[in-house]
Amino acid sequence: MQSNKINAAITAVGMYVPEKVLDNHYFEKIVETNDEWIKARTGIKERRIIENGATSDLAFRAAEDLFKTTTVKPEEIDLIIVATVTPDMFFPSTACLVQSKIGADKAWGFDISAACSGFLFGLDAAARFVESGVYKKVLLIGADKMSAITDYTDRNTCILFGDGASAVLIEPADDKTTGYIDSILRIDGSGKDALNMKAGGSLNPATYETIDKKWHYIYQDGKAVFKVAVKGMADVSVEIMEKNNLKSEEIAYLVPHQANLRIIDATAERMGISKDKVMINIDRYGNTTAATIPLCLTEYYRAGKIKKGDKLILAAFGAGYTWGASYLIWSID
Ligand code: UT7
Repeated sequence: MQSNKINAAITAVGMYVPEKVLDNHYFEKIVETNDEWIKARTGIKERRIIENGATSDLAFRAAEDLFKTTTVKPEEIDLIIVATVTPDMFFPSTACLVQSKIGADKAWGFDISAACSGFLFGLDAAARFVESGVYKKVLLIGADKMSAITDYTDRNTCILFGDGASAVLIEPADDKTTGYIDSILRIDGSGKDALNMKAGGSLNPATYETIDKKWHYIYQDGKAVFKVAVKGMADVSVEIMEKNNLKSEEIAYLVPHQANLRIIDATAERMGISKDKVMINIDRYGNTTAATIPLCLTEYYRAGKIKKGDKLILAAFGAGYTWGASYLIWSID
């Protein structure tokens, strides 16, 4: 008997990264660091920085790029989800700002604050909305202007982050053998002290003091986050393989969040996946938070490296803590 279950699938992709490049040598001039340390400890060679504009502009450009590749028009979008920790402002949501920029006249929408896991959480939400049958076209965008919250005098964090955005369209899959299959998603608020931006919210509204203390910038205890990220990302990635009876040789690609090449390598090793089957863009873009995973998907798809039917595991770890892994079968020819 044919199942009536709707399978949600990514049916189009788009991306935007700003033109301005900051390479590692730039940081040698502003903080005590060097190219060798940054490459060896993180895998980053350069990152992009937006000179004029906010997160909604990055997101808009990624959406604009997506709409060039599909017959779907902005006015047909039912729902817009923007994953970001750098919204243009507290409210309105970045989804609202994107809605008016693209002219999605019939859409509703909201933002997801899940830091580096934002795209995975957004993908799960988008897929479940589509699977419900209530919504047919969901635009999901991972976008972050990390340069807006980066302290360029702090060598521990300033070398890590970049700006970028990437958009995916989620629709019912034509072919029920492809699409979004499964996810394991987690949060743990005890991670709040290790990675955060302390001020600007209701706990510490902006004052001269919060500015003096640099509380409007990213704070990270890198070593502490590194340890939990390695374990968290690898654990859920292995768990989702076991849950779906997936052998490592069946997986076309691991698509990991790009925070540190050493975390990515450790995850791939635990999964038994070789390095040539791991998507990487950290060398060129650094950590673009909610954008890293969809940027990987867009670039690898456009380079002809992913084909319809390929089994992908997406995995992330970020502030919160938030983390998770998703399993999908690629749907675009
Ligand atoms: O995306 C959200 C989740 N975030 C993550 O997953 C990030 C997790 N953490 C990391 O990726 C790493 O911890 C970092 C890349 C942030 C740092 O690497 P590390 O190997 O953990 O370095 P560390 O913090 O243990 O620092 C080692 C040394 C320290 O010097 P001492 O104390 O040993 O003398 C640091 O002061 O390296 C020093 N250091 C630097 N040296 C040159 C820290 N930053 C720099 C720098 N250049 N930029």
